[in-house]
Amino acid sequence: MTRHIKTLIILLLAIFSITSCQKIEPIAVIPEPSECTQKKGHFSIDEQTILCFGNIGEEGRDIMKTIRESYPKKFKGLQPNLGDEESAGKNSILFAINEKPDETLGDEGYTLTVTPRKVVAKANTVAGLFYAYQTLVQMSYASQIAGNGPYSVPCAKIKDHPRFAYRGAHLDVSRHFFNVDYVKKYLDMMASYKLNKFHWHLTDDHGWRIQIDKYPALTSKGAWRPERSKWDTLHPMLPDEPATYGGFFTKDQVREIVEYAAARNIDVIPEIEIPGHCSAILYAYPQYACDNYPYVVAVGPYWPPKAIMCAGNDDVLRFYKDVLDEVAELFPYPYIHIGGDEAFNDNWQVCPKCQQRIADKGLKDEMALQQWLMNEIEQHLKSIGKKAIIWDDIVSEDMVNKSTIMCWQGPQAAIIAANHGNDLILCPTSHCYFNFYQNDPDKEPLAMTGLITLEKAYTFDPMPEGLSEKAQKHILGGQCNLWTEFINTPKQADYMIYPRICALAECVWTDPAHKDWKKFQNKVEMHTAYRKK
Ligand code: ACM
Ligand code: ZN
Repeated sequence: MTRHIKTLIILLLAIFSITSCQKIEPIAVIPEPSECTQKKGHFSIDEQTILCFGNIGEEGRDIMKTIRESYPKKFKGLQPNLGDEESAGKNSILFAINEKPDETLGDEGYTLTVTPRKVVAKANTVAGLFYAYQTLVQMSYASQIAGNGPYSVPCAKIKDHPRFAYRGAHLDVSRHFFNVDYVKKYLDMMASYKLNKFHWHLTDDHGWRIQIDKYPALTSKGAWRPERSKWDTLHPMLPDEPATYGGFFTKDQVREIVEYAAARNIDVIPEIEIPGHCSAILYAYPQYACDNYPYVVAVGPYWPPKAIMCAGNDDVLRFYKDVLDEVAELFPYPYIHIGGDEAFNDNWQVCPKCQQRIADKGLKDEMALQQWLMNEIEQHLKSIGKKAIIWDDIVSEDMVNKSTIMCWQGPQAAIIAANHGNDLILCPTSHCYFNFYQNDPDKEPLAMTGLITLEKAYTFDPMPEGLSEKAQKHILGGQCNLWTEFINTPKQADYMIYPRICALAECVWTDPAHKDWKKFQNKVEMHTAYRKK
């Protein structure tokens, strides 16, 4: 046989094997990998399969433990046999750090090669290996849905890395309280879709949710409110009404969650709202208000919220700095979110102390007063080795602030901030607010006004149009937000977040050239069927 005929036969066999394989069992990985070539055959996981870890070092221990511990859950009770790189022969799954870093994979990318004989995952970091494992688990979904059991993984060669370094999900635990178990479940869901930043909205008008030793009333008073069956009624807490609904996280619980997240390659970003959304603080410490109004922990969606901390009172600055000092000790990630959204400053306009501050600092107006306050806090964070994230409400052409900006209101603020040299995270209400309805409001449980279907969520692009190459470098990524005014149970939170979180994950991980709505829909169907099993 001539060389040409041989080559032709090999080519035809290869095409046949790929197409015939795809018909039987598609690879349904979310987010879509950068490169994926399906091959003929399967790798079968069984009682003899050895799970091997090579060269992962001490820093990878916790993430590898997560893999070992989740393996029996993912593969229906199979206990893994453990080995090292040397034992990674036939019937093994090897996770190993590249001896020589592969520049094209970056910090979180990986390669995954599945053959009938063995599986090999390689990466520059343990994070990359963790994501290779998530991909492997998802590759077994199709076979599970087909009724073949969880043990069969289609052969493939995958090379994958994220488009953005910041891939987040936010959870508001103030409007309704969600406990440690639910937060862990949320983190598990994030990890399975390769999201790596958990934005934990811990304080708001409706409850303060983190233990602060120096200010115990924040949690003894500020974490509790009356339980009302109807959240959308507006009458406030009455003086003698029992405050039975609420809760907060102790410092030990916070540490537990931070550790749990780290073992899943997730950094936790706490949010402490400054200077608005503070009814719960002012119920506990009324001396920090501009006036003598009897503030109470909010029980409904008052609008606009009147509560704002007095920016002319030095004790308020001391309070925030003390709180942030305690918060900073609990969270190893350098960023702390300090709010800054929807700070209605009517009180500042008539408060002698706030007006005095404006005069003393030569500020132009109340907006400039907020900028000044946020800068003071940002400087304090810097002095303790931390960095601030602030909502885009503070963005203006003349701002001096260099914090990272979280853009929720639309592209205008993002463009100004990026050109100004601030780093940015995007979560616009148009695509990322998963507390909005996801389908026809007439047929859905009560949700926040607004409609973001799965298809709409899938069109999110964190990169605003029209940015210069230099400004584009400031776009760190994006996240979805789950505000919980109308979400009062874990079941409802799950319903609102899934499957839109899959769309978000693909928007922040996958290169737009590899996104495909039809394919995505099919993948979501498979994942949903798997989740129901
Ligand atoms: C926001 O939705 N107020 C950030
Ligand atoms: Zn004031």
